[in-house]
Amino acid sequence: MADSASGQIDHVLTEDRLFPPPAEFTQKAVFSTEEQYLETYARARDDRDEFWKAEAQEHLHWFEPFNEVCKWDAPNVEWFVGGKTNASYNCLDRHVEAGRGDRTAIIFEGEPGDTRTLTYSELLTEVCKCAEGLQSLGITQGDVVSVYMPMTPELAILMLACARIGAIHSVIFAGFSAESIADRNNDASAKLMVTADGLYRRGKVLPLKETVDQALAKSTTIEKCLVLKRVGQDNVSMTEGRDVWWHDVVDTQDGKLPAVPLDSETSLFILYTSGSTGKPKGILHTTAGYNLWAKRTFEWVFDHREDDVYWCTADCGWITGHSYVVYGPLSAGATCLMYEGAPNHPAEDRFWDLVEKYKVTIMYTAPTAVRAFIKWGDEHVDKHDLSSLRLLGSVGEGINPEAWMWYHEKIGNSKCPIVDTWWQTETGGIMMSPLPGITATKPGSCCKPLPGVIPEILDETGRPVDPSSGGMLCIGQPWPGMLRGIYGDQERYVQQYWSTVPGKYLTGDNARQDSDGYYWIMGRIDDVINVSGHRLSTIEVESALVSHEAVCEAAVVGRPHDLKGQAISAFVTIRDREPDEELRQELRMHVRKQIGALAQPDDVRFAATLPKTRSGKIMRRLLRDIAAGKEVAGDTSTLEDFTVLAKLKEED
Ligand code: WT7
Repeated sequence: MADSASGQIDHVLTEDRLFPPPAEFTQKAVFSTEEQYLETYARARDDRDEFWKAEAQEHLHWFEPFNEVCKWDAPNVEWFVGGKTNASYNCLDRHVEAGRGDRTAIIFEGEPGDTRTLTYSELLTEVCKCAEGLQSLGITQGDVVSVYMPMTPELAILMLACARIGAIHSVIFAGFSAESIADRNNDASAKLMVTADGLYRRGKVLPLKETVDQALAKSTTIEKCLVLKRVGQDNVSMTEGRDVWWHDVVDTQDGKLPAVPLDSETSLFILYTSGSTGKPKGILHTTAGYNLWAKRTFEWVFDHREDDVYWCTADCGWITGHSYVVYGPLSAGATCLMYEGAPNHPAEDRFWDLVEKYKVTIMYTAPTAVRAFIKWGDEHVDKHDLSSLRLLGSVGEGINPEAWMWYHEKIGNSKCPIVDTWWQTETGGIMMSPLPGITATKPGSCCKPLPGVIPEILDETGRPVDPSSGGMLCIGQPWPGMLRGIYGDQERYVQQYWSTVPGKYLTGDNARQDSDGYYWIMGRIDDVINVSGHRLSTIEVESALVSHEAVCEAAVVGRPHDLKGQAISAFVTIRDREPDEELRQELRMHVRKQIGALAQPDDVRFAATLPKTRSGKIMRRLLRDIAAGKEVAGDTSTLEDFTVLAKLKEED
């Protein structure tokens, strides 16, 4: 088992401060007593089907009722079999029909400061128009729509429009490269590509359509490309017969299309994420179970109330944006702030300006952002009135206690509970988290499992270990939001998640449980690193490096980084080139071009050989130590010979 590359674990293991929720928070909370949680948790565990039957009947709209709650034949599961529902109906029509159409659904602010507000009725009309537009382009149920868009309301509209007609959206974060887009388009056999002329980022325009044009040159199944005018770029190249404008195709529709009743297990979306091998996996989620999980976890964890203004800072290019910008909060009828741009544009107080301006009550962000705010300085926070905030959330990686304390004191004024939510793209929604009205939180712990989540801590042979010493985190029972597969690769699905311990879902994380039953996530068991809360496979970056003509061999590891959590360190052996600064930059840019900016190595070190075991395996643990500065210090610009170190290590 690989050791964790995170330098934060020592802190985490000694953390024992307790922060009970403020009494006034508890009084009005969704979960307001420990007994209520224990009772709900026990019911969901002991009578799974009865529990979820009642939940589904109450919280989703059914065009036709289901006749079986859960058909579980590990690793395949079907939830609410025989029923017909529609996620866009649950997010929109349901509220409008209940007379809540005038409630604000989305408050949008673009990076340049432009604003727009959509009520639930208005959002419904926009979604219908978009769905009609998709139909006019020949999109029907089961077609894959690939999306590369800025974080504007149209992105949410497009996702919900797909859901309305049973098309499958595959959102690609607008920072990925043309190569990555093309790989995903081809893997999913996507039929339509949706993009924009550009997006605003730190005051500049990123020309999305140009990147998409390069991607489409290599995409074999895309027939049409729908383009939103966001930035008003001049001379956007539009290919005759393929490219069409959003304002021509969508805005001209009449906006009345009823939601299509869809089988519970209709595919809702694919979202690509890195695994332990080079090729990203298309994680597949389906309609009813995912929708219910996103809604209920949102309501439980964020303690949603009528007068909340909720802000999740994630981009819809990641699962957090799917579940907690779109499907969860909108199903719950929440008022959501959506912001397009960077947290430090035009200045480092942009987020706090937004909180003050819109009187945000619940804020959900990532530890990497919190660490950046700390670095930028308290003066940016002090300028603003943050007294509207009542609850704070964290996601993406463990939050180190130092960052937790700053978030608690500086942003939460020591009165807002913090929910540290542990989950994954595959789990569809939050799995472990404090419940803000009842859980006494410990900085760095994701605390307790939500109802329906049965965690197990096991060794490599699948036997339970002493939870306090830690082991592989697995989930023993199906839950409604769990992934249904890897798109187009059932074999890999079984092998990746269900084979290490047959019949149990392998999360890929290590965890331990303390004597109060609190869970502590201890990092990955595989070659996955977490950069700014985003998952990257070291092998994926290695493949990108090796595709450069000067590189013979590459090894990539994570090393601790103050802001990003982990930084990417690459070790390469080269041929026919000088190991100089120019090549180093070239290799960094090469990876950026192959995968995206997120994967660009922070350091590239030239090695004479890579340290290997006698059986030929690269000694990653040794490289991790070197990258973290533990083994060798000093000049990294020369060609390094690690064979000596490797020999020493083997003799240990
Ligand atoms: C991996 C999942 C969940 C949405 C964002 C990331 C790590 C995530 C936490 C947390 C400790 C965390 C895990 C997990 N992770 N949240 N609160 N504490 N670790 O989704 O890209 O699918 O990554 O992120 O390692 O397995 P993802």
